[in-house]
Amino acid sequence: MQLTKDYSTSLIFKIGFLAALAGLLFGVDTGIISGALEFIQHDFQLTVVQEEMVVASLLIGAVLGTLISNPVSHYWGRDRALLFSAIIFFSGSILSALAPNYYLFTAIRLILGIAVGMASFSAPVYLSEVAPKQIRGTLIALYQLMITIGILLAGLIDTYFSYKGSWRGMFSTIAVPALIMLIGTLFLPRSPRWLMLKGKKEEALAVIKKIFTNSVEINKEIQELENNLKRTQEGWSVFRLGYFRKILGLGFVLQFIQIMTGMNTLMYYAPKIFSLIGFSTPPERILATVGLFSLNVIVTILSLFIIDRWGRRPLSLFGLAFMMFGMLCLGLGLNTEVYLPLRNPLAVGGMLSFIFGFAISLGPIVWIMCAEIFPLRSRDIGVMFTTATNWIANAILGGFFLSVMKWIGPSYTFWILAFICVLSMLYIYFFCPETKNVALEMIERNLLDGKPLRYLGEDLALSAPQAKPACKQA
Ligand code: BGC
Repeated sequence: MQLTKDYSTSLIFKIGFLAALAGLLFGVDTGIISGALEFIQHDFQLTVVQEEMVVASLLIGAVLGTLISNPVSHYWGRDRALLFSAIIFFSGSILSALAPNYYLFTAIRLILGIAVGMASFSAPVYLSEVAPKQIRGTLIALYQLMITIGILLAGLIDTYFSYKGSWRGMFSTIAVPALIMLIGTLFLPRSPRWLMLKGKKEEALAVIKKIFTNSVEINKEIQELENNLKRTQEGWSVFRLGYFRKILGLGFVLQFIQIMTGMNTLMYYAPKIFSLIGFSTPPERILATVGLFSLNVIVTILSLFIIDRWGRRPLSLFGLAFMMFGMLCLGLGLNTEVYLPLRNPLAVGGMLSFIFGFAISLGPIVWIMCAEIFPLRSRDIGVMFTTATNWIANAILGGFFLSVMKWIGPSYTFWILAFICVLSMLYIYFFCPETKNVALEMIERNLLDGKPLRYLGEDLALSAPQAKPACKQA
């Protein structure tokens, strides 16, 4: 992250910390279930469908949360939407730890999901409105990193409590980061863009003066805000515009690919997969899962350094090749016809290869691209719908994965995911634009000119030197 004396480093750290916490809670709340599931299943005597509902309830809530987050943050402000989600995170964590039965537990997870969905929309939007544009892209990538750290933290909490067999301990512990986020959001500056939208120009100026220390930057920022406000956000009427539907289609498919290639089958059900390959005790299985989660964090850090060098397309194709190979091997490793001593290395190697491929590519790239591809006037609604797609796909995958695995067997299930990786590579090769080093304005111009999706960033060679800083905008 490049911090210069043009803006207040301490305030940016405070804002970054918030992004960290919203991302962290997103990760913790989605990740905690992997280690808790078998204890909940045992305590509440769940059927396979009920187990799937325990996982899917949070994801369905997240779809609802994403859809209401736009109006909530429009009326009360992005920071208030975050505060609202922190309150739900905190109370939901405690209530889920106390839930007396499956029905109440599932209902509370659904409400917690609303907080996850609201945070997953509001935090990146808030960041893109408050942070200096030079570091907006980096902050979104860091947000993804914090999601992976949250998942890892959930794995560590799961490991600790798995020795005591206490899923209630797992859920009550995650109230701690939720409380820190709740207190943190109370001290956040309001978004200057939102303040301007509400006609509170003086307050907006005060925030800008706190963020920027250099008077030239302050004036530039005010000018930019005023210009941007002239291009107010479109409402639902935006769906009548052909170019919006086209770019929304790209965002939908990217989010769909990110989820349907199967990363979260490993995130939510890794201990189950480890039990299929002979890890016999819950702590053993959860510890192995923590190993996977750690790899996810390490490779995501690596990706931060290469995304802007390699570009989105080559890195996505590279990552998808590892993901496809990983799912193929995992399917072989879970196949009883395969020579026994080879099965464990194939399954474990397959999972590692898949996670490496995902974390280096689709994990961060899809979130960054969805923040880059929409014209400014329709960005809120575009990001809202693509984020909702992510959660819908997640709910479908989380909700049906165990049943499909029971129905067609684990090998075919993972081979289908490998096939989806191949289809995804074809889609990216033929339709996905390269947005590395391309000014967002150029993407917008190309889109309005009716250029095919694949060529939306085509002036890259001509404009790369001047456009380079603008690619960081979100
Ligand atoms: C995805 C999540 C996933 C996480 C894993 C995110 O980009 O949206 O669904 O669990 O990456 O690191």
